[in-house]
Formats: sequence, C-alpha cells, structure tokens
Amino acid sequence: MLSLQLAGRTVVVTGAGQGQGAAEARMLAEAGVRVIATDLPAGMPAGLAGASPSPEGSLLYRQLDVADAAGWSGLGDWIRSQGWAVDGLVNNAGITQRSRLLDASATDLHKVYDVNVAGALLGIQTLAPLMAGGASIVNVGSVAGLTAHYPVAYTASKWALRGLSQVAAMELGRRGIRVNTVHPGFIETPMTQGAKPEFRQATLAETPLGRTGSVEEVAAVVLFLLSPLSSYVTGAELPVDGGQAGHGGAKSISDALR
Ligand SMILES: NC(=O)c1ccc[n+]([C@@H]2O[C@H](COP(=O)([O-])OP(=O)(O)OC[C@H]3O[C@@H](n4cnc5c(N)ncnc54)[C@H](O)[C@@H]3O)[C@@H](O)[C@H]2O)c1
Repeated sequence: MLSLQLAGRTVVVTGAGQGQGAAEARMLAEAGVRVIATDLPAGMPAGLAGASPSPEGSLLYRQLDVADAAGWSGLGDWIRSQGWAVDGLVNNAGITQRSRLLDASATDLHKVYDVNVAGALLGIQTLAPLMAGGASIVNVGSVAGLTAHYPVAYTASKWALRGLSQVAAMELGRRGIRVNTVHPGFIETPMTQGAKPEFRQATLAETPLGRTGSVEEVAAVVLFLLSPLSSYVTGAELPVDGGQAGHGGAKSISDALR
C-alpha cells in the first residue's frame, strides 16, 4: 500500500484550532505524525477534539499568536528542550479584513500583514534552524493572492506571502528544506461561514467545479507537500480552488457563449 511516509515526523501547524488548520492537524496525526498544533486560545480548542491519532502519531497543543516574536521563540525553545527536530511547518494561521480600496486604512493593512505575512516569516525564522534536509514548509496563501480579490489588505497580504515563500524556497533549498504554497479557493470554514449569499453565488459562478471545497480537500494537498512523495517539489504554488484562478476570468465569457 502506498504510504505518505509521514509517520514519526514532527510537524507544527499554526491556526490549528478550527477550519483548515484543525483538519490538517487531525489528518497529520492520523498519518502517524507528532503534531504540534498551535492557535490563540490557552487551552486545546474544541476543533481538535475529534482527532484520532494513529499509534505512531500524537496531537499536542500549544498556545501561539503567530504575530508575536517572543511566542515563537518560546515555542522553539520548548521544542528544543524536548530534543525534537522539526520536519514540517504549516503556516496556516490567517485573518481576513474586508474593507475595500478607498476605505482601507494603513492600520487595516498592518493588522493583516502582522498575521498573514510576518507570522509566516517568524515561523520560518524560528523553526528552519530546527530542521534538517527533507523538511518541508507549506504556506497557506489564497486565490486572493492570484487575483484582484476585492478586500485589498487581505489580497495584498497573500500576494506578499507568495514573495516570502519564493525567497524561502530559494534560500532554504541548499539545506534540502522545501517551501511550497497552497492557494485555497472558497473553502467551507468558520472564516467563510458568514459570507454573503451574493459572494457565495458569484464565487461559484467563477468556479469550474461548481462547488465550494472542504477542509479535508485542502489538508490532503498540504499532507502531500509535507510528504517525501513531493521530494522534488519546491517553490511551487498549488491552487486548491476547483479551478477558480486557472481560467483568468475567461469563464464568464465561455458561459455567455454556451
Ligand atoms: N476558508 C477559505 O475559503 C480560505 C480561502 C483562501 C485562503 N484561506 C486561508 O486559509 C487559512 C485558514 O483559513 P480558515 O478558513 O481555516 O480560517 P478560520 O478563520 O476558520 O481559522 C483560522 C485560524 O487561525 C487562527 N488565528 C488567527 N489569528 C491568529 C494569530 N495571530 N495567531 C495564531 N492563530 C491565529 C484562528 O484562531 C483560527 O483558529 C488562512 O490563512 C486563510 O487566509 C482560507
């Protein structure tokens, strides 16, 4: 049977309390990984409760605000004190901000960047020194980072994350550490729960597969990128979006001419 070859590895997931991060943490634990799940709450979030780690796997929880450099350094010290190496990092924590171009303030921009961009940078800076060749970092971007999605601060942050990912892939490649990015489309999570019906409908109209995605469908791609099965993949960007970004705006034209 084909194996993801993840058993026995140690992987840190940020923003793992709910949504995609929780699914990634749960599926990694099932694949035999020692998962260090992190998020803002002090105690283990309910979203992680249903995890059923395989005999080799485990799911530990640590509080971490990804925007807090001291928090990252505390996490790094703790991992070091356990005598563990780090084989994987999923920079999943992210926040959105829906103000539009003429209303967005510099404060909005800074707030989103602190989490979505600086959070990932701090994670890489803290954990790359604990990684050896074969380790893998996955950054969670967004279709927003491939398009002109209207919430400008969020979109700009995800475009910035792409630049960060590419530099990291280049700089860490010589150590055998891979860095890749996934770009989710509309995924059913607490983040999108409150989306307006108009937003949902318009997104579906732009999505060739004609449906939204599940957290497990994103997590499966993240597990592949963490696994040695993707050992020659680095600096790659993989949309997990039902085809939303790939047509570059041509779908409405194609649909109109049907
Ligand atoms: N859901 C979607 O449709 C969608 C689409 C594209 C990209 N994304 C991206 O996927 C990632 C996960 O999104 P989701 O939909 O699961 O979101 P979510 O809001 O359901 O979960 C995000 C998690 O991140 C945590 N978080 C927020 N700020 C944090 C901080 N400063 N430090 C640590 N943790 C923090 C939250 O507590 C929460 O548990 C995000 O980076 C998001 O931008 C989501």
